[in-house]
Amino acid sequence: MREFSEDYLSRTRQGMWDDSREALAPLELESRERILDVGCGTGELSRVLAAESEADVIGCDVDPRLLEAAGDHVPVVAGDAYQLPFPDDAFDLVVCQALLINLPEPAAAITEFARVSSDLVAAVEPNNAAVSVDSSVETEGDLERQARRAYLDGIETDVALGADARETFETAGLEVLETRQYDHVRTIEPPYDERSVVAARRKASGAGLADDRETMLSGELTESEYDELRSDWREMGRDVIDQMASREYEREECVPFFVTVGRVRS
Ligand SMILES: C[S@@+](CC[C@H](N)C(=O)[O-])C[C@H]1O[C@@H](n2cnc3c(N)ncnc32)[C@H](O)[C@@H]1O
Repeated sequence: MREFSEDYLSRTRQGMWDDSREALAPLELESRERILDVGCGTGELSRVLAAESEADVIGCDVDPRLLEAAGDHVPVVAGDAYQLPFPDDAFDLVVCQALLINLPEPAAAITEFARVSSDLVAAVEPNNAAVSVDSSVETEGDLERQARRAYLDGIETDVALGADARETFETAGLEVLETRQYDHVRTIEPPYDERSVVAARRKASGAGLADDRETMLSGELTESEYDELRSDWREMGRDVIDQMASREYEREECVPFFVTVGRVRS
C-alpha cells in the first residue's frame, strides 16, 4: 500500500473545493444524515462534507497517523475500504476522494461502499494522466510531464481512473446518476509562501524526485535515464529559485477530478 504523509496531503489539497463546490451538488449534502468518508487521510474532504451538511460525518482510513490528524475535524474509525467495520445500510452516503486510484481492486471497494450505504455512493477521483503544468520556467512543464509519466508507469493501480469511474460503479452493480468534473487548480505566484519555497528547494536538491526513484525504476525508465532526468530536474529547480529571488516565478497546475455518484439498487 502506498503511504502518504500529512504534509503531502495538505500541500496537494491546498485550496481544493475553496473556489467552487458545484461538482459536489449531486451528493445532495444538505439532505444527508450519516456520511462516511473512506480513505479520508487527514480529512481534507471530510471537513468540506461537514461544512456543507448537517449530517454526522465519519472519517475512515487504514493509516492511524493520518486518522489522528483527521480526528481534529470529524470523528474517525480505523478500517479497510474492502471490509468496512460498519453494518449494512449504516450511512446514506459513502464517499471517497483519491482512494480508488490507489486500490488494486476499486470495484470491490465500491461494492463494499454499497453494502454500508442505504442510498448514495460517490467517488471523487482524479485523472492523474491528464495533469497539466504551466510555468514561467520554460523546462518545468516538460520535465514534470516526463517525471509524471515515469512515475505513473511504475504504479500498478489505475491512476487515471477518475474519468472512467462510471465503469467501476457499474461493475459494482450501482445505478450511475451523474459524473461532474472539478478542476483543482493550484497557483504559485509572488508573494511566495513557505510551502512554495520548500517545494522549490526540493526541486533544486532533487529530493522530491529521489523519493519517487524506486517507483519510477519499476516502470520502463532506466537508471541512466533517471540520472539524466534528475540532473535536468535540479537545474530546473535552480532556475525556479532564481526566478523566485526576482519575484518572476509563476506556476499553475491543473488536476482534473471527476465526481461520480451512484445509487444503491434496492
Ligand atoms: C491519496 S490519499 C487521499 C486522502 C484524502 N481522501 C484526500 O483526498 O486528501 C489516499 C488515502 O487512502 C488511504 N487508503 C489506502 N488504502 C486503503 C484501504 N484499503 N482502506 C482504507 N483507506 C485506504 C490511505 O491511507 C490514504 O489516506
